[in-house]
Amino acid sequence: MRGIFPYVLIGRKELIEGTEYKKSRQSGHGRPLGNPHMINERRDFLRLMGAAALMAGGCGVFGGREEKAGKLLIAHRGASAYAPENTLEAFRLAVEQGADYVEHDLHVTRDGVLVCLHDSTLERTTDVEEVYPDRFREETVNGEVRRRWPVTDFDLAELQRLDAGSWFDAKFKGARIPTFAEMIDALRGRTGLYVEIKSPESYWSRGVEIERMVLEDLRKAGLDRPGADPATPVLIQTFSPASLKKMAHELKTDLQLGLLIGGSMRAHWLSPEGLEEARGFVSRIGPEKGLLDPATIAEIHRLGMTVAPYTFRSSDTGAFKDVKEQMAHFLYTLGVDGAITDNPDEFPRSA
Ligand code: G3P
Ligand code: CA
Repeated sequence: MRGIFPYVLIGRKELIEGTEYKKSRQSGHGRPLGNPHMINERRDFLRLMGAAALMAGGCGVFGGREEKAGKLLIAHRGASAYAPENTLEAFRLAVEQGADYVEHDLHVTRDGVLVCLHDSTLERTTDVEEVYPDRFREETVNGEVRRRWPVTDFDLAELQRLDAGSWFDAKFKGARIPTFAEMIDALRGRTGLYVEIKSPESYWSRGVEIERMVLEDLRKAGLDRPGADPATPVLIQTFSPASLKKMAHELKTDLQLGLLIGGSMRAHWLSPEGLEEARGFVSRIGPEKGLLDPATIAEIHRLGMTVAPYTFRSSDTGAFKDVKEQMAHFLYTLGVDGAITDNPDEFPRSA
């Protein structure tokens, strides 16, 4: 239920000069945030709606599955422990394993199509080196020259020739890189969409407004409004505060937004001041799990937001016996609201 109240808290704030926002301003993408009077009225309205839903004790006014559910099972890149990440095979398996949301990553092809892919280059998860041996760019890392095949150098038709399954297991030979639209078609009505926008600033520098593209594909699917399909709630997340501010304030989406927080972002974005700032444009915080402590979780909840850390996987459970025990600790002892995991089948539905 916590997710309802702060659904989209839009308020004009003086922006703290975080790294990401500085980058956006330098590339001309920082924007004034609109009429503060109107925005604050809208925020108050949404708060009232959320409070009314809470008092009614039923499902939220903005969604279905999320508000009804207890803890959220978010399948990371699909059921990526068992099938090649970001393929329809991994997404469908995640649904079979009971995912409330399927997380997936988005990049843009040379001809302007959103595709599900984590890395900005193709060589880790496809056979691009064999299919397009001459299409690499050289990159020097710590004095070592490496060959890279950036996704932005390829049209969709070219990507569709790639095998995105064999690198994981021969039995997945022939799995393809799906488009965002194909992913939506395959999953809608069966689970929620946990959309991650990758490297938004790098797309801005190419003149590509990836956020607008994401919202347009969702609009075409009839999923650009909260509650449009109660069986298919949508949350959009990214590590870029500037991208999220753009979606909340400039593109004015009412969809759920989530801020991912990695180690280098911790000092500001998990501080009380950073969290207060974040509640101006997101309702969900998604930190790397090792960055969380009880005080931070309490502060996120006090501010009316929810928290779903990443990434729980059976191959790395630290001091815990297994990934199920680890997730149970975070969900039921520390009290986080959801978990992003490669192992959806290990998600503990109760303490
Ligand atoms: O959903 C959070 C998580 O996916 C962020 O990290 O690198 O796996 O996309 P990454
Ligand atoms: Ca991701």
